[in-house]
Amino acid sequence: MKRLPYSIAPLRYSSASDASGGWGRGPTPAGEPNGAGAAPAAGVTVRKATVRDVPTMARIINHWASQGIMLAKSHHQLYQYIRDFVVATHGDVVIGCGALHVVWEDLAEVRSMAVADGWHGKGVGWRMLQCLLDEARELGLPRVFALTYRQSFFARAGFQVVPHESLPHKIWGDCLNCPKYPNCDEIAMTLDLSAITAEDDRAERQ
Ligand SMILES: CC(C)(COP(=O)(O)OP(=O)(O)OC[C@H]1O[C@@H](n2cnc3c(N)ncnc32)[C@H](O)[C@@H]1OP(=O)(O)O)[C@@H](O)C(=O)NCCC(=O)NCCS
Repeated sequence: MKRLPYSIAPLRYSSASDASGGWGRGPTPAGEPNGAGAAPAAGVTVRKATVRDVPTMARIINHWASQGIMLAKSHHQLYQYIRDFVVATHGDVVIGCGALHVVWEDLAEVRSMAVADGWHGKGVGWRMLQCLLDEARELGLPRVFALTYRQSFFARAGFQVVPHESLPHKIWGDCLNCPKYPNCDEIAMTLDLSAITAEDDRAERQ
């Protein structure tokens, strides 16, 4: 089975005084590969989102949505799905967000991944994605998917392109609100987490 370019530590919740500042594995030590080939920006932490983060999350997401590269989110939608979200912070400032939305017993979507202008290419998106994948594993989900224009970003994490039709009908409910529906040109990608689990377990036993 495929070995992915990162190791997954158990997802944990820790207090703000912890080095990780919340959910996740904490800052990657300088020089440690983070899958992006570079250490992430210093002082960036990833934690679960709170309702106080929503106005900034909306600003970041809707900035990119106005450019047609992701789906817009209202404050109402963000409050409704706040438990799905992690945010990346630098100091007290929210600089990115991303969500894991459970669809069914065997499938979840990684969605609304957005990093503020000026913070791209520093490993912030990668860190959030790893936390969301950790959470998916903790929940026992065997597979996650994403609909995206950023194929290379997800491919680096082991996602593979699949035909839209291979995803179950129930995932398209949210797409009814998308201006592009039914002509979705986003790339459908999936990641088999059970393959990673089996591979990691085998590696640990050796
Ligand atoms: C997609 C997105 C969330 C990725 O976040 P990010 O923080 O820029 O992601 P990373 O820094 O982890 O990786 C981005 C790229 O920078 C490169 N990179 C990562 N760390 C780097 C560093 N320290 N120095 C230079 N380049 C770096 C990576 O190779 C990566 O390239 P790739 O995506 O083509 O593989 C962000 O670009 C974004 O908000 N885009 C607009 C909205 C969007 O398209 N969202 C996706 C919807 S599913």
